[in-house]
Amino acid sequence: MVFIENLDKYNFHYPANVAIVCSKHEERVNLMSAAWHTQLSHNPPLYGISISPKRFTHDLILVSKEFTVNFLRFEQSRLAAFFGKTSGRDIDKVNVFEIDLSESRNVKAPFLKDSYAVYECKLVDFRNTGDHTFFIGKIVGIHYDPNAFSPSLNIYPTLYLGTDLYITTDNSNKRLHDEKQVKEYLSRWVQGG
Ligand SMILES: Cc1cc2nc3c(=O)[nH]c(=O)nc-3n(C[C@H](O)[C@H](O)[C@H](O)COP(=O)(O)O)c2cc1C
Repeated sequence: MVFIENLDKYNFHYPANVAIVCSKHEERVNLMSAAWHTQLSHNPPLYGISISPKRFTHDLILVSKEFTVNFLRFEQSRLAAFFGKTSGRDIDKVNVFEIDLSESRNVKAPFLKDSYAVYECKLVDFRNTGDHTFFIGKIVGIHYDPNAFSPSLNIYPTLYLGTDLYITTDNSNKRLHDEKQVKEYLSRWVQGG
């Protein structure tokens, strides 16, 4: 193993599921790619996204206090590059990339029609985290394609590897490691064998 401690950029924890964050203020809709996002709480349902103040999305979320988080199939991976390599400060991404949007139910920001899952979020908190701002949203509605989750995720999600590279899952290679298996292992361990 190589050890480093003087860090500039680091992404050794990738792949990361790419989310498209959609925000809206007045009539202006914008979309950006985000690899830094996470579930924070079941109850209340909280979801966090980490956005640099340099992004147009940052301004829109601060004023509108809402956003949607959209998850892409691998067939749509080029959208991650489209929305991640262009800024709403320079272009209107909805028109330029001819995107199909749908109306959300509980927030004004729309969602990407072809996503396999979408979280509608209302901003409940935010804080500065180094060179990014961590926005905490309460999920106030979810859209999902039931066929994509039957019986578990069976589509190919868009995962980011960094430096413009994307990858997806091998869905023929799922493993179940349940409590029964753990208990069996522990009982053998307790018995010394
Ligand atoms: C795959 C991918 C993931 C990204 N993840 C993030 C992220 O988590 N946070 C962030 O601030 N920027 C991230 N970016 C960069 C923004 O998407 C990019 O700067 C974009 O142009 C911002 O658009 P906007 O100015 O219209 O908001 C990512 C870019 C790519 C391509």
